[in-house]
Amino acid sequence: MTDGASEHPSPHNPAIDPDSHATTSGMTGHGFYDANSTTQWNAIEAVLPTLDLAAKTVPLENAQVITLADYGCSEGRNSVAVTERALTTLLPRTSLPIQTVHSDLPTNDFSTLFLNLRPHGQSVFGNERVFSSAVGGSMYDQLRPDRSVHLAMTFNAIGFLSTRPVESLPGYIQPNGPSKIRNNGYVSGESGHAFALQAKQDVEAFLKVRAKELVPGGKLLVLVFGATEDVCTSDGIYDVLNDAVLSFVETGEFPKEAYDHYYQPVYMRRLSELTEPVVAPQFETAGLFDIEDTNEYEVAVPFVEQFKKDGNLSAYASAYTDFFRAFTETVLANALPAIPDKDKLLDRIYARAEELLRANPDLYPFRYAAIEMLLTRKD
Ligand SMILES: C[S@@+](CC[C@H](N)C(=O)[O-])C[C@H]1O[C@@H](n2cnc3c(N)ncnc32)[C@H](O)[C@@H]1O
Repeated sequence: MTDGASEHPSPHNPAIDPDSHATTSGMTGHGFYDANSTTQWNAIEAVLPTLDLAAKTVPLENAQVITLADYGCSEGRNSVAVTERALTTLLPRTSLPIQTVHSDLPTNDFSTLFLNLRPHGQSVFGNERVFSSAVGGSMYDQLRPDRSVHLAMTFNAIGFLSTRPVESLPGYIQPNGPSKIRNNGYVSGESGHAFALQAKQDVEAFLKVRAKELVPGGKLLVLVFGATEDVCTSDGIYDVLNDAVLSFVETGEFPKEAYDHYYQPVYMRRLSELTEPVVAPQFETAGLFDIEDTNEYEVAVPFVEQFKKDGNLSAYASAYTDFFRAFTETVLANALPAIPDKDKLLDRIYARAEELLRANPDLYPFRYAAIEMLLTRKD
């Protein structure tokens, strides 16, 4: 199931170059992410009215081409759908050509993305004024020329950290720590603080480069999984993955040293942690943008809703596992040393997770919280 990205030796994260401003090589490819990302689409669907507002109010004067860009587009199913929506407002507002830019890490499955952009060899957007392109690069770097982007968007992506702020996380596999229900590990206060700081610095780095790329008055819509007062999106998924991995640490098949250094480099932010770099004076990005809208909300999770309706535990465990496999597998694969039958071990880890979910679903409840902000680039 791994995406086949090449591996460069480095002690604890073989495929990731420290200069890449990335901590993953992407989602599981070959259509697997697309097939298992309806929950992420539900999060996007909730902000479509906000996207409409951005597309309606972004200034389109003094341009030769209107550009909209999506950062962290993955294989593109959700990226295409959300771009289609923005085009319904933008196209009637201008007679200029519109360029859509779909960007992700160089190791992303761009072949699937291109097929999504040009199914049957023609543009999926079906309009002769729309031209699409893909850009490989970290969203924490500048990827487009100065003042060239009108509408920038990112969905379910900025939670992936640009760098690993701590070398090892021996007590758990994700920075926010275990859920209260499962409580199967720990993250020290010092580590927790390092992740929270990194997450803010990542927003600062992202805003800094988008501020360069955007035209004055340009819009930036940021949506990401996170945490609210009572929901933390990491609960459940990382508890069951942690339990599954630990069962292979016990047998010695997953080396203990690799476990100590392995963690999924994603951080669940509160809304205030997302907006702080926009306003707080200690950040270089303070004052570059006006905040037009913010929101935090819970997203309906299709496999949870289905399970409530039909009680089909096997289907629930399978869909739940595929959901988190799609965004955790490459990091887990990169955390393992080059051992024989690594792919088989990965399969067995996810099969074990599915088994644990089937055996004890109440230990791993999953809820998805999303946080969002719409910004305008100041003159
Ligand atoms: C969960 S997927 C979201 C995909 C899509 N936007 C959606 O909402 O369905 C997160 C995406 O962010 C990308 N990503 C992670 N770190 C990144 C970085 N530093 N720069 C660009 N993309 C990154 C991953 O490769 C992945 O495709």
